[in-house]
Amino acid sequence: MAKITELFMATHNQSKIAEIAEMLKPYAIAIKSSNDIPYPETDETGTTFEENASLKVIDGFKASNMPTIADDSGICVKTLNDEPGVYSARYKGGYNTVLNKLGNIANANRDAYFVCVIAYTDKNGKIHLFRGESHGKIAKTPQGEGGFGYDPVFIPNGETKTYANMTKAEKSQTSHRKKALAKFMDFITSE
Ligand code: IMP
Repeated sequence: MAKITELFMATHNQSKIAEIAEMLKPYAIAIKSSNDIPYPETDETGTTFEENASLKVIDGFKASNMPTIADDSGICVKTLNDEPGVYSARYKGGYNTVLNKLGNIANANRDAYFVCVIAYTDKNGKIHLFRGESHGKIAKTPQGEGGFGYDPVFIPNGETKTYANMTKAEKSQTSHRKKALAKFMDFITSE
């Protein structure tokens, strides 16, 4: 059993908060966020998901003074040299730019993967990192209304639907965020 009952999630992204809160329901861990505790927007000056997640979690821990997690995530498109990667949130045009850059290129060259790194600070402020990846393809056109960000153009391997056409529960069966969170849960339940 996890010994913690409450976690601060250092993000202003309501979609990430909703996904993580849903994933933590079975563990009876309540998520506090910037909706409950003021938390400054962190400058994402790092060049890796790990660095940015660490920067965010340090700010979040200072703001909340409680066990804190932060998620840094993004999508890497292989034929675009892993662009937009850590710059996914700031990538001009978002998924439309990815679709335009890939054009009509064959499915074999549309490989992409989402990355999520969860940083966790324990009560002493020590940082622990957990990485999850979800591999799949970029669709030719956006499909679906659900999810957020690049969900309408990402089809995970073994599926035919984009993440935006899935429920949260369906998405979490393959999602990068769920995989990172599962590693984090293993860690805190065995601590
Ligand atoms: P950041 O972690 O706040 O720097 O932003 C990550 C960005 O990557 C988001 O704003 C989305 O554009 C994209 N992203 C990360 N995870 C997902 C996901 O699960 N679905 C769709 N887009 C995502």
